[in-house]
Amino acid sequence: MLSLVAVSTLLLGANALTPSNIMRRTDGSLTGIKYTGVGGSGSYQEVTNMVAGTWPSCTANPSCEQSPKEVSGNLAPFDDEITVAFRGPLNVKNIAVYQPGNSSAATWSQTSSWAAGGDTNNLVFMNNMGGGLSGEWTICGGASQSYANGTWDGSAASPTTGTSGYLPETMEINIMTNETCADSACSGFSRGTANHGWSGSKLMVLTFNMPPSSDASNVPAIWALNAQVVRAAQYGCNCRGEGGNGGCGELDILEVIAGSDIDNAISEIYSFKGATGSGASAFPRPTGDDVTYGVIFDVQSDTIAIQQFTEWDFTQNAVPRSIIEGYLGASGAMAVSFSSNARRADRRSIFGAHRRHHH
Ligand SMILES: *[C@@H]1O[C@H](CO)[C@@H](O)[C@H](O)[C@H]1NC(C)=O
Ligand SMILES: *[C@@H]1O[C@H](CO)[C@@H](O)[C@H](O)[C@H]1NC(C)=O
Ligand SMILES: *[C@@H]1O[C@H](CO)[C@@H](O)[C@H](O)[C@H]1NC(C)=O
Repeated sequence: MLSLVAVSTLLLGANALTPSNIMRRTDGSLTGIKYTGVGGSGSYQEVTNMVAGTWPSCTANPSCEQSPKEVSGNLAPFDDEITVAFRGPLNVKNIAVYQPGNSSAATWSQTSSWAAGGDTNNLVFMNNMGGGLSGEWTICGGASQSYANGTWDGSAASPTTGTSGYLPETMEINIMTNETCADSACSGFSRGTANHGWSGSKLMVLTFNMPPSSDASNVPAIWALNAQVVRAAQYGCNCRGEGGNGGCGELDILEVIAGSDIDNAISEIYSFKGATGSGASAFPRPTGDDVTYGVIFDVQSDTIAIQQFTEWDFTQNAVPRSIIEGYLGASGAMAVSFSSNARRADRRSIFGAHRRHHH
């Protein structure tokens, strides 16, 4: 495993800052993608209120109240709180989040973690089944977040631990910190079961596999969203927007596109600036062995990097900034500039794929 000892050894070499655990493949498939120039100045439609409406028809108009939110600076809007969402079929094995105390801090410390079958540390599994055992449902606004139950296919009254990590086909979960919007105020509108995401710079390390689907139209995906999206309604009233229509931030980390090439997974980034992504290149869908990916959101360098790692020691509780820079500077990743005028067709529509929907 990559240990701090190995990291220190790396630091001793004159030009040896490149971490030793970056996956290299020679088959032409992606092992990494690096988005530069991520941040920008602009605005998205922040949700300010949701009106419940009246049974049996949704009579509220508008039921989704929004107003423009101006943001700017490095990584904006991805410097806001982020959640990571998962759609099955997936086996999730390990999750760890590392964050610096501030954007230039010398060390990124582990702030959240979980291993399959084990306890959660500052991490809560949610889904969009509010109105049952937790969260809420309204005629105009649909379902809020709920705590995911132990088999990730229903809701629970409180956060669950000890889950196996198996996410069934078509089911979705997302992770949040254990701090609720009642503990301290959340930005944007929130309702029901609502928690904070991870703000500022963050490294998220994930170990998982994406087993074959029994129905080829049910495909797995891992994506990051501005946490405001799920606190309102991931499939309804939210600030997501898409591409040039403006948005508060979505990063498709590994997304298998139904009706396209279901053996591969693409990456895309969306904000109020537009959209860009991996284009014709793709990561191989890891149907068999577990894979480990690191996703770095770095405010200081205004960069997001998604990289496959050969290994990760999830017990390590700190990562030096120099190693983060080693990942950001490493060769092998596809470089994509998210320029201020990025505008292009949504790859999902190119492939005739439908937008994700809630089951
Ligand atoms: C960032 O955090 C470090 C401690 O990790 C501290 O020494 C430094 O002063 C902080 N910088 C700013 C700008 O707050
Ligand atoms: C969140 O989890 C951490 C680590 O498990 C714990 O120390 C903290 O008290 C928890 N906070 C809340 C609000 O539950
Ligand atoms: C989770 O919810 C689903 C749907 O209601 C149910 O079938 C399943 O048994 C639940 N799992 C647990 C562990 O309660």
